[in-house]
Amino acid sequence: MKKHIVVIEGDGIGPEVTRQAVRVLDAIAEYYGHEFTYQYCLMGADAIDKTGNPLPDETIAASLNSDAILFGAIGHPKFDNDPSAKVRPEQGLLKLRKSLQLFANIRPVTSYTSLQHLSPLKVDRLEGVDFIIFRELTGGIYFGKKTLSEDGQTASDDCVYTRDEIARISHLAFQYAQKRRKKLTLVDKANVLETSRLWRRVVQEISTEYKDVQVDYLFVDNAAMQLMINPKQFDVILTENMFGDIISDEASVLSGSLGMLPSASIGTGAALFEPIHGSYPQAAGKDIANPIGSILSAALLLEHFDLKKEATRIREAVSWTLENGFVTKDIDPTNFYFMSTIGELISDFVSGKIPGAINKENIELRKSTII
Ligand code: IPM
Ligand code: MG
Repeated sequence: MKKHIVVIEGDGIGPEVTRQAVRVLDAIAEYYGHEFTYQYCLMGADAIDKTGNPLPDETIAASLNSDAILFGAIGHPKFDNDPSAKVRPEQGLLKLRKSLQLFANIRPVTSYTSLQHLSPLKVDRLEGVDFIIFRELTGGIYFGKKTLSEDGQTASDDCVYTRDEIARISHLAFQYAQKRRKKLTLVDKANVLETSRLWRRVVQEISTEYKDVQVDYLFVDNAAMQLMINPKQFDVILTENMFGDIISDEASVLSGSLGMLPSASIGTGAALFEPIHGSYPQAAGKDIANPIGSILSAALLLEHFDLKKEATRIREAVSWTLENGFVTKDIDPTNFYFMSTIGELISDFVSGKIPGAINKENIELRKSTII
């Protein structure tokens, strides 16, 4: 299969983790006889530094003409700490999501047995955790009208949703639930917000078309608590933009590290794949970040091309590294491997260079990067 992929490395650790994901995609292409071509484009603080624009027109044009986009991370402290900055890196990502109509952000959350002891949660709460968050991505408070009064004393962000915006992602989420454990939880704040009441009405109506799916409704404050005390209860979580942003970072604790979680943003055209983590500028250039969120995003990208075997092979490779203790610093701060070593191990596994029964000592000697 031939596919053209736009790669946006972005800011902070974005370039490093994305390089590991591309390395794994190359290993897949070679092993299975596919041809992936890459076109590198700018976005974020990197793009502001080089062009003055967080999302150059060429990036939009290339993305619209691609089969998929692999994206790293966005953001830089020099903008975070300057509330009066006229352009911000994040505007690039938001504009790209809007330009490509990427209305559904899909974030799977899995708990790996080999990492459970490292989670701040008790192991018995983590066993069997496997759910997926459908976060609406092109509406709500992120995209509503913003105002700041002339005297700088009053600000507002409108939260707006239309029935159609709610319906299109709800159908996707219900269809997904049908293929899984047939349970969908709508997370909202319908006791306070008008937009949430619209979400509830639309989801209630749509649910009649998916009678085999059991629907639950949870207020977001309660959902935030339930995610910690009983995460196993969830199968598909459907929610609006801002709530989805917040609870997906919270949910990442269940998997052991924010660095583990991938995401797919899909819409009407090319889809975008990115780890859910941010740009983690403190770690940039140090080869210590976790590349797995990005590598698993590449697996989602392959699945989107209907390359299921290939996606499964990446997931097997990831599980293999974790089970054998090959982890980055975020997971084990004292006995960790460098990011590039993990990327190399995963791509070696994909290429069949690592046999089923491994000799850990040989790998440690070969890599010689253990601290
Ligand atoms: C995410 C990020 C983005 C968001 C930022 C970088 C704009 O936190 O993808 O979760 O809030 O959507
Ligand atoms: Mg976020």
